[in-house]
Amino acid sequence: MIGLIHAILFEMIDSLAGSDGVLEVKRRAGVGDDKVFQIDEAYDDPEWRRLLGAACEVLGVGPAEAEAAYADFFIRDAQERWPAWFARSRTAREFLERQPQIHNSFATSLLIPAMRQDVTDKFTIVRQPSGFLMKYASPNRICGLYVALARSLMKHYGDHATIEELHCQKSGDPACEIQVTWPAMGAP
Ligand code: HEM
Repeated sequence: MIGLIHAILFEMIDSLAGSDGVLEVKRRAGVGDDKVFQIDEAYDDPEWRRLLGAACEVLGVGPAEAEAAYADFFIRDAQERWPAWFARSRTAREFLERQPQIHNSFATSLLIPAMRQDVTDKFTIVRQPSGFLMKYASPNRICGLYVALARSLMKHYGDHATIEELHCQKSGDPACEIQVTWPAMGAP
């Protein structure tokens, strides 16, 4: 997992539980107190999962609540950090359709081909007339975060679509399949 995701997690924990909270999460996850996560470098996935689990414990929330809080925090931060991606997308749909491309742009900074592929293999979008089907396959199995980020983005754009998870890795499927559908134009 690329360190941008860790960096934002630590910023969120810091804002909710202070620097002691950040240290406690690192300790519970077995990460050195002074380890710094660079936003353009890849770190191992099991470590990320330990950090997310420890963050839930320290903040006293379940995974769904943590994902929703993280998503809102991430989208607020992203508007300042990556304004061009927001300027380029006039609607949540345009943004969500670009999301795999945004992710893949981070893979280009990784030197090892297998690491690049770990990033680019995670999301595959199938565009449809009324929306899209997102196929997500990752050892991190955080489809809940995908849905939370999509909802947060829709809130930002004032745009609304239905989101339905048709298949899920957590139920034993090889990939999560998330159907995102916008109401037909002109529908009541
Ligand atoms: C400017 C906006 C965004 C940026 C810069 C961004 C960047 C990133 C980066 C760098 C990663 C780590 C990728 C990896 O190591 O495999 C990541 C992970 C992820 N992102 Fe985004 N992202 C953005 C928006 C979104 C949106 C809108 C969604 C969903 C609707 C999304 C869903 C996810 C998910 C689910 C993961 C975890 C992937 C995994 O399983 O490891 N992202 N994002």
